Amino acid sequence: MVKIITTTQELQELRGKLKRAAGFVPTMGNLHAGHLSLLQQALQEYDEVFFSIFVNPKQFGPNEDFGKYPRTLTQDLELIQSVLAGRPDKAVYVFAPTDPSEIFPAGYDSSISVCGLSHWLEGKVRPGHFEGVATVVYRLFELIKPERAYFGLKDYQQYLVIRQMVRDLCLPVQIIGMPIIREAEGLALSSRNQYLSPEQRKQALVLFESLQKVAHTLNGKKANLDQARDMIRELIQDPNWDYLELRDAENLSPDLNTSQRVTLLGVYRMGTTRLLDNLQLELA
Ligand code: PAF
Repeated sequence: MVKIITTTQELQELRGKLKRAAGFVPTMGNLHAGHLSLLQQALQEYDEVFFSIFVNPKQFGPNEDFGKYPRTLTQDLELIQSVLAGRPDKAVYVFAPTDPSEIFPAGYDSSISVCGLSHWLEGKVRPGHFEGVATVVYRLFELIKPERAYFGLKDYQQYLVIRQMVRDLCLPVQIIGMPIIREAEGLALSSRNQYLSPEQRKQALVLFESLQKVAHTLNGKKANLDQARDMIRELIQDPNWDYLELRDAENLSPDLNTSQRVTLLGVYRMGTTRLLDNLQLELA
């Protein structure tokens, strides 16, 4: 069963009636297989899953794509329905507010800032972005009170920011990071891929290929770090990189001396579209 909810009042009434623990998948809609993998996981663990579709204005900068971000509710609902096919025991409550004031009522004036983590890498290129993300996710957690919430690891820094917020504010929710889903040739699925022309799609493979080259050079060994960094320096001669960096996977520190796991994060620009990707690597 899929039930659509468009107002906060209806959501709160429903949540009050459902006594059981529930899973939660927050999204901005325009669903693809990556989002559906989060829903599938949530449905494996819970009979009742909340799923939000809300293009959050607070996480877009003034010159970003808030206006043109694809809004495809009818198609999204069909996809959710298809995941539920043959599972009469499961319920998905889709919270898709039509008016942003349902989430941020007039006069709403608070913001959540996860200090250190939000200001590097993606946060440096998009000032205020993670404050917008943390603020909406906090608000959704407050309304939905999930036991577990599912996030794709494609947005690895976002995952770490949310996890840190939950730890710092002692929120009673478990954050589950789910693997990146890729096209056959390696491009990580993203709603923004549809901004790419067929030619740009081919060129965009350079992002995943570069991550793989650096990972291959590193080969899981601290002793190869200098070589991997040299390779990164060479790759980022291409001016389309916003960044390509090796960071500690737990706290995004650039100091990897004591790291056991690192993340290689990259953002490559194709025209006006920014493509994000990352790999998680062990380091011995
Ligand atoms: O990852 C996203 O789609 C968004 O940043 C999120 C977590 C739904 C918050 O708007």
